[in-house]
Amino acid sequence: MSCNAHLCDVIGALQLEEIATTQKRTELMFLVTGATGSLGRRVVRHLREQGKPVRGFVRLLSRYGELEDRGAEIFIGDLRNDKDIAKACQGVDYIISAHGSDNDAQALDYRANIELIDQAKANDVKHFVYISVLGVDRGYEDAPVFKAKREVEKYLIASGLNYTILRPSGFANNLLPLAERFRDTGFYLLIGDPKNRSSIVSTDDLAKIAIDSVSVEGAKNQIFAVGSPEILTRETIPMIFSKVFNQEPIVINVPLFVLDGVRSGVGFINPQFQRSLGTLRTLLANEFFCTPDEIATVESVYNINLETLENFIRRYLGGRQ
Ligand SMILES: NC(=O)c1ccc[n+]([C@@H]2O[C@H](COP(=O)([O-])OP(=O)(O)OC[C@H]3O[C@@H](n4cnc5c(N)ncnc54)[C@H](OP(=O)(O)O)[C@@H]3O)[C@@H](O)[C@H]2O)c1
Repeated sequence: MSCNAHLCDVIGALQLEEIATTQKRTELMFLVTGATGSLGRRVVRHLREQGKPVRGFVRLLSRYGELEDRGAEIFIGDLRNDKDIAKACQGVDYIISAHGSDNDAQALDYRANIELIDQAKANDVKHFVYISVLGVDRGYEDAPVFKAKREVEKYLIASGLNYTILRPSGFANNLLPLAERFRDTGFYLLIGDPKNRSSIVSTDDLAKIAIDSVSVEGAKNQIFAVGSPEILTRETIPMIFSKVFNQEPIVINVPLFVLDGVRSGVGFINPQFQRSLGTLRTLLANEFFCTPDEIATVESVYNINLETLENFIRRYLGGRQ
């Protein structure tokens, strides 16, 4: 064989290898748990808009038609079942854990995530993105979701996997039904201290950040607090609605002791539900906001301008400019 022919063979082999690598790279598969939830649904949407393959972990009774229409692979299972988790993790490169607790923090927030992490290791997953919660490290004893998430964070950090932990504040989409009711009636129900501060995060921003976490170098093995660019007191939320819909707000402020009364009553009938109300009480009784430094870090690492609550509400519900 001539030297030229040999060179051609080598180049050909290299090209084949490069094509194979490129194809492999473009086919890296995401597994998204909670794919029918507020966040998971958006993660799948954004992934499919980018043409990326994604397997959505859903329950048979979930509303997953939209995900299927967008070209996501549907995996039907239950996160309470280890065998389902093991099967869902086969052949995936990235995992975004975005499922909720369904009032059972022990089984879903804690154990299902521990199993997902173990399976991620067994399947050589390249990056694990975990959706935690802002304030998870404050040691709230009465909030099972916070406790579970803190333990999962520790387990993930010690696992040896590449990870990103996102600690978001409350999601903006939670406010859409309240904004719609406000638009129709002018009423706003404010529970707890009107002066409490929060940084309601755009659920779409969080979805994009979760996806980018697997590829942005500065996100590897990091923990980020994620919120809106502005700190809002609870009483400013109806003011934002008022601006968007050009309507005077009628605010009804319910003090926290009313929730405490309901919680004690529920305890006689359903102690597990009473415990899960502990997480809700923790959320209502405390402040969850990101500092300007935390916001600047996220914006710089992910090269993103975080969306304000007003913008989010306008995008989804319109309103007068
Ligand atoms: N919402 C917030 O304000 C907020 C703030 C901070 C952090 N977070 C965290 O962010 C994550 C996403 O929250 P989200 O508001 O998007 O949740 P969500 O809308 O309540 O959705 C929960 C998802 O988990 C799925 N799920 C529940 N039990 C399951 C089971 N046994 N097997 C399989 N799937 C199950 C649900 O499936 P179905 O459709 O079948 O019910 C749904 O897709 C959660 O980890 C949450 O703790 C949320």
